[in-house]
Amino acid sequence: MKATIRVDAKNETGAIDRRIYGHFIENMARCTYGGLLKNERPGDPRGPWKLREDLIDMVAELQPPVIRWPGGLFADGYNWRDGVGPEEVRPMRRNRYWSRYGPFTRVLDPNVFGSDEYMSLMRRVGAEPYVNVNFGTSSAAEAARWVEYMNGDAASTLEGGRRASYGREEPCGVKTWGIGNEMYGLWSLGHSRPDQYARRYLEFKGAMQEADGGLEYVAVGSDAYFNKTWNREVLSIAGDQLDLLSVHVYLPGPERIGGVWAARAMGGTARMYKAIVASPIEYERRLRTACGDIEAELGKESTAGIAFDEWNLWWSPIQLQVPRWTLRDALFACGVLHAMHRLSSRVKVANIAQLVNVLGLIITLGDRVCRTALYYPFLMYSRLAGSTGLETNVVCDSFETLAVGGIPAMTNVPVLDCSATASEDGKTVTLFAINRHASEPAQCRIEIAGLRPAGEVAVHTLNAPHYTSYNSYKNDTTVHINEAHVDVGDALPARELPAHSATAMVFRKG
Ligand code: AHR
Ligand code: AHR
Repeated sequence: MKATIRVDAKNETGAIDRRIYGHFIENMARCTYGGLLKNERPGDPRGPWKLREDLIDMVAELQPPVIRWPGGLFADGYNWRDGVGPEEVRPMRRNRYWSRYGPFTRVLDPNVFGSDEYMSLMRRVGAEPYVNVNFGTSSAAEAARWVEYMNGDAASTLEGGRRASYGREEPCGVKTWGIGNEMYGLWSLGHSRPDQYARRYLEFKGAMQEADGGLEYVAVGSDAYFNKTWNREVLSIAGDQLDLLSVHVYLPGPERIGGVWAARAMGGTARMYKAIVASPIEYERRLRTACGDIEAELGKESTAGIAFDEWNLWWSPIQLQVPRWTLRDALFACGVLHAMHRLSSRVKVANIAQLVNVLGLIITLGDRVCRTALYYPFLMYSRLAGSTGLETNVVCDSFETLAVGGIPAMTNVPVLDCSATASEDGKTVTLFAINRHASEPAQCRIEIAGLRPAGEVAVHTLNAPHYTSYNSYKNDTTVHINEAHVDVGDALPARELPAHSATAMVFRKG
């Protein structure tokens, strides 16, 4: 296939908030306990639980900009007080949300990973914290006290003093706070109508800002699939009192497993491949709808943004325990990151769900740890993307897909999906290009207007022998990134992009 890619280095599409490459950890199944922490006495829920050093190094390598915690649905049943203070006095609790589904999603919480352990982890891996308070089963006053525990001065505040007495003198400076999770859902603890949610949100925000005047607030938003009018109603009441509206999208959707199996039976893996690599188009459409809600209710000039604070592929409960991500799924993630580059004026934060084991980028089994295929897009984009989006234009062939669960059938899906960024000093342009074709390379003509690159171009290629390839504990580099350095003359004006791959090309100004 022949194609043309044009990057216009003079046409900036807006600042890119690095937090879009963010992550999420929840006390659910084996994400925190059994993932981040290993039980040194397996079978005894009291542990001792120890942080897995090998896994922490893998997380640090991702240069994670932000990690959301403690949920998710878990957050609305969590009492932060259970997780602070000396370990021996922390209570063992039933997991108020996830225990309803039994041992599969987690029954007991030893509470040894609490606020201070979370902050230590953030410092170690260099990530910004993003804490979700309990809206569903707690109070505005308790949320404010948690803010004070995290951010209050040690000498002049009660909770700040408590924190200092537990060994953390310096305030943590947690800026981003979510108020509730998926409150539109009947499945959440504290399910509310949008007007009820918005009024009580204002109470929470009011109390929390008394504890710290410099916070960024995330209100619960909804994907139109779950509730078409939620966002508008919440924004009409609380729109001028929030910074970010959260959106979650999981496709084809765990509740639509029938549609996934039907598609598999009808089309086999080849048709599934096409639907999944094209699905970022649907994720982008849903994000645009939420952006549209903000603009319709608050006006185009509003600075309110989107926290896409849970997103991933999800089609079966098994993936909560043993996700087996393939190269196909990695290409999907690259596509969603491109969508967020394009929507960077509104999408400020995003957190793929989740970091460990639960739909996880990294999986663990006993002593073993594995970087799945889904780990690699984050390694590539978070390290190579610049701070400003650039206009890109692609001319290439297209294809059609069939519907899979919540992913609709599509026509005219371009085989290539590209996005580009510039560094802050304008001296580096990174072009990201996904070739979604299952078997054919793309012969690309690449033009960069407004920047004359020189010297060496770093070419990073995310690929594997087949789009069904996946990583295992024995070999976690079947799907991986290959890095090459080529002379600018070998990258421009013509370059071949391999079948089923994502490429990042880093050009430097001459
Ligand atoms: O990521 C798993 C769960 O999916 C989260 O707890 C919840 O917010 C969503 O429904
Ligand atoms: O499992 C219930 C809902 O299904 C999740 O909250 C939603 O995100 C998913 O698609």
